[in-house]
Amino acid sequence: MASYVAAIDQGTTSTRTMIFDRSGQVVASDQREHKQIFPKAGWVEHDAEEIWANVRATAAGALANADLTAGDIAAVGITNQRETTLVWDRKTGKPVYNAIVWQDTRTDRIIQELGALGDGQERYRDRTGLPLATYFSGPKIKWILDNVEGARERADNGDLLFGNMDTWVLWNMTGGVDGGIHVTDPTNASRTLLMDLDTLSWDEDIAADMGIPTSMLPEIRSSSETYGTTRERGALGGVPISGILGDQQAATFGQACLSVGEAKNTYGTGNFVLLNTGTDKVMSQNGLLTTVCYKIGSKPTVYALEGSIAVTGSLVQWLRDNLKMISSAAEIEDHARTVEDNGGAYIVPAFSGLFAPYWRSDARGAVVGLTRYVNKGHLCRAVLEATAFQTREVIEAMNADSGVPLKTLKVDGGMVVNDLLMQFQADILGVSVIRPKVNETTALGAAYAAGLAVGFWESEDDIRNNWAEDKRWEPNMDEARREREYRNWKKAVTRTFDWVE
Ligand code: G3P
Repeated sequence: MASYVAAIDQGTTSTRTMIFDRSGQVVASDQREHKQIFPKAGWVEHDAEEIWANVRATAAGALANADLTAGDIAAVGITNQRETTLVWDRKTGKPVYNAIVWQDTRTDRIIQELGALGDGQERYRDRTGLPLATYFSGPKIKWILDNVEGARERADNGDLLFGNMDTWVLWNMTGGVDGGIHVTDPTNASRTLLMDLDTLSWDEDIAADMGIPTSMLPEIRSSSETYGTTRERGALGGVPISGILGDQQAATFGQACLSVGEAKNTYGTGNFVLLNTGTDKVMSQNGLLTTVCYKIGSKPTVYALEGSIAVTGSLVQWLRDNLKMISSAAEIEDHARTVEDNGGAYIVPAFSGLFAPYWRSDARGAVVGLTRYVNKGHLCRAVLEATAFQTREVIEAMNADSGVPLKTLKVDGGMVVNDLLMQFQADILGVSVIRPKVNETTALGAAYAAGLAVGFWESEDDIRNNWAEDKRWEPNMDEARREREYRNWKKAVTRTFDWVE
């Protein structure tokens, strides 16, 4: 039997293919970045064909790096940046418009119009678990149908397909115009504002409100079952594709947060804290999302509460690419270490408005507390601290919703190599922060979903057994300072409101 499972991780800044062995160790990987397209303030797009080319290139690259062939791979899983919206022609396979990325705020007017029709921002919360916000896919589909010439007519004729990046990758891998499978999983579908959280099916009323023909929506299957076989004649041909999880749910799975009350925080472009709430669908009273955590085959659906933070790692990129204050992301820690504290400066990166727990699309970023004393080191520190403060805000909301304060936090993602940030995170939360040995939890989670479906792993116990701790940070800040810092942060946040009419 084949000895490995592959995962394709189609993320916001790059696409990766990773190959894992039975113990969950990384055997090989390959990665390619894609262009970030910013046509106007607040708009963010990706070229979906570039992304598909990167999927093929990294799949070939990862196999070559480990000297493997498709015959060595038992199954493939797909994980992806969620919400990012693509509409394409089923006959030509050509996108009608670039993919509109989750961070994009162009749908703010659509959101206002939809909100104004009924009971405001919360009108779809009961059915979808989500507030009305620019973040989600449904309003982005509406924007494409309203603004791309001829798109609505073609959609009404049944010529157009919608998908998040999981669906785009799966459709292409299974043959594209030549019989590609048009499928998604409930974790991705639960981010569209179009899926009923109880029935895991498309909500016809909401789709009608947004003018979206349901014929263009993919079939919702479970997160772990064989959907089809890769048709690529190249590197990865003839392998079952048997797992799909949105990237944050995949990381939750890869972190073995498989019991009620277990949570993880992934430090990527943004930060996403997910708390497993089991088969209970907990409705947040504190600005969090209710979302599908995973659905393994015919087993009951597992739900999560999620605190989504739009901008964390991308603030470091902004410092590097837009302000040129650092030349690499790794450099930020060196500068931050040249000073004792933030010197009184706070940076609130409300670049896409503010997500959880505020959901304010009218917010824009602010740097406050500046004096002549503040230097580059202080600003670097303030950038890192912004990630930790935002995490505390969503964890507080989670504690309030669940009534059970979190005692430890499992972390993963690019920024967890930053020791200063991790220590500050433990300090500002007042709980232990734990990093696993395999930090590639997103790809690993998708590999687990795929491997479980084909019997490569037998049960979720295999996932628990594979998880191992690498490093732990304990809180080491006095209570008075912790609360003073957090009060200042909260004050800084209020300075970002009401910037967009
Ligand atoms: O909801 C957006 C999220 O899925 C993006 O994750 O890691 O690509 O920034 P990441």
